[in-house]
Amino acid sequence: MPLTIGLTGGIGSGKSAAAELFAALGAAVIDTDVIARELTVPGAAALGEIAARLGNEFILPDGSLDRAALRRRVFADARAKQTLEAILHPRIRSRAAELALRSTAPYALVVVPLLIETGGYRDLVQRVLVVDCSEARQIARTMARSGLSEAEARAILAHQATREARLDHADDVIDNSGDLDALQRQVRQLHEKYLGLSGAALSGK
Ligand SMILES: Nc1ncnc2c1ncn2[C@@H]1O[C@H](COP(=O)(O)OP(=O)(O)O)[C@@H](O)[C@H]1O
Ligand SMILES: [Mg+2]
Repeated sequence: MPLTIGLTGGIGSGKSAAAELFAALGAAVIDTDVIARELTVPGAAALGEIAARLGNEFILPDGSLDRAALRRRVFADARAKQTLEAILHPRIRSRAAELALRSTAPYALVVVPLLIETGGYRDLVQRVLVVDCSEARQIARTMARSGLSEAEARAILAHQATREARLDHADDVIDNSGDLDALQRQVRQLHEKYLGLSGAALSGK
């Protein structure tokens, strides 16, 4: 298993932007949102389990997952959220581990938006990298990207771990309150650091 780093951060903090820059430098980037979507395509086992445990109404007539309806339900219902997580997270984790194991890159970055909140990824990753910026910036970036209202962006933020909680778990931090050049510089530095760490791991030091 190569050195595996969990990359996390609140909505709009710049996880995807950072991950893209790491990928361009040669890191294997494993995105748990992408895995979650792959696990819930029509006919997938997890989909059957979602229907059985949360209700058939979440499966559309064409067999696909009604993501919007499911999102509304788990947003409003903590038990449903737990059930969904119990269905998806073990599967996401084992698929992420499989992809990390298979990768030939010097190190792997697993992007987990809710790494701190879910906790269950800590045995997959050797380090945690947090992308951090002010909540005001998170909200502005989220609104600009997705067209969500400020209230909607704030509501999502309120459901996530606080910056402090996230930073508490961080081994490395990217301060993404600057421009894209500042982000790029920090990514490059961390890339060098991770190459060093992965080399040390390989030579058994
Ligand atoms: N340092 C930055 N300067 C300007 N725009 C940025 C910066 N970092 C991210 N963005 C933009 O902000 C938005 C949110 O970033 P994104 O990486 O998608 O966040 P996340 O994946 O954490 O939700 C995107 O449109 C992205 O291009
Ligand atoms: Mg993203």
